[in-house]
Amino acid sequence: MRYLITGAAGFLGANLSLRLLEEGQEVIGLDNMSTGFSHNLEALKQYNGFRLMRHDLVNPLPPALGKVDYIYNLACPASPPRYQKDPIQTFRTSVWGIWNLISLTRNAKIPIFHTSTSEVYGDPLVHPQNERYWGNVNPIGVRACYDEGKRGAEALLMDYHRQTKNPIKIVRIFNTYGPCMDPKDGRVISNFLTQAIGQKPLTLYGDGKQSRSFCYVDDLIDGMVKMEKSPAGFLGPVNLGNPDEFTLLELADRIDEITKRKNKREFLPLPKDDPKQRRPNISLAKKKLGWQPKTKLKDGMSKTLKYFETIC
Ligand SMILES: NC(=O)c1ccc[n+]([C@@H]2O[C@H](COP(=O)([O-])OP(=O)(O)OC[C@H]3O[C@@H](n4cnc5c(N)ncnc54)[C@H](O)[C@@H]3O)[C@@H](O)[C@H]2O)c1
Repeated sequence: MRYLITGAAGFLGANLSLRLLEEGQEVIGLDNMSTGFSHNLEALKQYNGFRLMRHDLVNPLPPALGKVDYIYNLACPASPPRYQKDPIQTFRTSVWGIWNLISLTRNAKIPIFHTSTSEVYGDPLVHPQNERYWGNVNPIGVRACYDEGKRGAEALLMDYHRQTKNPIKIVRIFNTYGPCMDPKDGRVISNFLTQAIGQKPLTLYGDGKQSRSFCYVDDLIDGMVKMEKSPAGFLGPVNLGNPDEFTLLELADRIDEITKRKNKREFLPLPKDDPKQRRPNISLAKKKLGWQPKTKLKDGMSKTLKYFETIC
């Protein structure tokens, strides 16, 4: 199979590309390198089956792309500081990105696998969130470029499927961490690990009692591959994430355990529209895909710490 993976130089795109290349598949990695890293591409370039295409997905796909059998759409900055840096570009990447992909696949009927996000639930009033919950999103806030962009992309893709019957799949990814992630992406795991490596205090926002769940990247990629192989009639959206929930204070304690040191804490004001709780209900993924995460937080964090120590 020849896969097109948009966002292949990013955290999840690089891990997914590697998995497919290891299986002997061909991968065309499309990326504009806005938040991707060339060091993420190094491991991919070791495989003859890999080709990089530098392209911005807000523009129509070039004919040089050639034939593809399957599309994974991961292009979009995922961390708040990155997606808020150029919010118009973020919105265009989500919605125009899907538009450009469906323009490519409409006649060829190439399947599109789209990575949506738990952010479609906004600051949820239902806890844990299942796929039937419609969310609580501020449509004009500073996170809307991402949240509403992703909601728009889901809507467009579902309408495309209803009108054409062409194959699609949608996953809603919850916080994921692991090797190839950007140590400076401003999210809590990378913040804590880089602060611990630099022997700086761990930054907590508000009282640190807001909770998050964290999925190790290998588990997430397993779930995505299972979703790809699932029957065509199962479109999703399906939640993929780890339901084990930790407060950020508890997460800081885990950092102390894996670094074998009592790191200092620093408390800062809560950012605007920061969700208080976020935890997936993964019953649908368990039932339809037979999937659930296996990696313990401490083990995944130790592997991520080792990775950060090599690149920071
Ligand atoms: N990492 C997570 O915890 C998480 C959670 C929920 C959803 N997701 C989704 O998964 C996908 C991948 O996330 P990630 O963590 O790997 O993010 P990332 O920022 O590491 O990677 C995104 C990649 O897309 C590329 N890109 C961005 N805009 C582009 C454009 N217009 N054209 C071409 N390439 C473009 C970037 O250069 C980068 O390589 C995203 O769609 C994101 O919304 C991720």
